[in-house]
Amino acid sequence: MTAIAIYPGTFDPVTRGHIDICERALKMFDRVVIGVADSPAKQPFFNLDERYDMLKTVFAENGRIAIKPFSGLLIDFARDSGAAVILRGLRAISDFEYEVQLAGMNRSLAPEIETVFLTAAQRYAFVSSSLVREIARLDGDVSDFLHPEVLKRLTAKLKASK
Ligand code: COA
Repeated sequence: MTAIAIYPGTFDPVTRGHIDICERALKMFDRVVIGVADSPAKQPFFNLDERYDMLKTVFAENGRIAIKPFSGLLIDFARDSGAAVILRGLRAISDFEYEVQLAGMNRSLAPEIETVFLTAAQRYAFVSSSLVREIARLDGDVSDFLHPEVLKRLTAKLKASK
């Protein structure tokens, strides 16, 4: 049986923190499907196609990672992808409350799907996509937190939006 985990998020944009979680998850699962959530309520800076394209570029060489956009319920996406596990990263204690709520709700909607948490690597424990965007917007150096291609696209989009 192939063990498939879904790794959902908005990825606006994908950071090295997300990449680290995905790579470590491959030690536990045969395949990781990255679910790029539409997340209209978050009014993402990058549109869904742009977020999807960046993930495709970052993970192009990894045949065990698939990237799929989704809108609608996460558990439906997980079921459609044949995944028995939802994977989430935990950075700080502040993530915990929200994540437990999400996991509990998803479990009550789909008891056959488990949520598994990986703690973020220490060096990425304070990284978030919105912080990275804000620092980059103010001309700070975010190269430690982004894949070079993602950095290039963020810089270009910020320049175009000024
Ligand atoms: N490293 C770095 N940053 C990380 C990280 C890590 N390991 N893990 C999370 N983050 C950051 C993200 O960049 C994001 O930052 P931001 O808020 O500054 O943009 C933040 O932590 C959390 O966002 P994200 O991981 O993208 O998740 P989300 O909270 O936007 O979305 C979904 C979570 C998509 C899983 C959730 O909204 C969902 O399930 N949607 C589908 C609809 C549904 O089923 N709803 C019912 C749920 S019960």
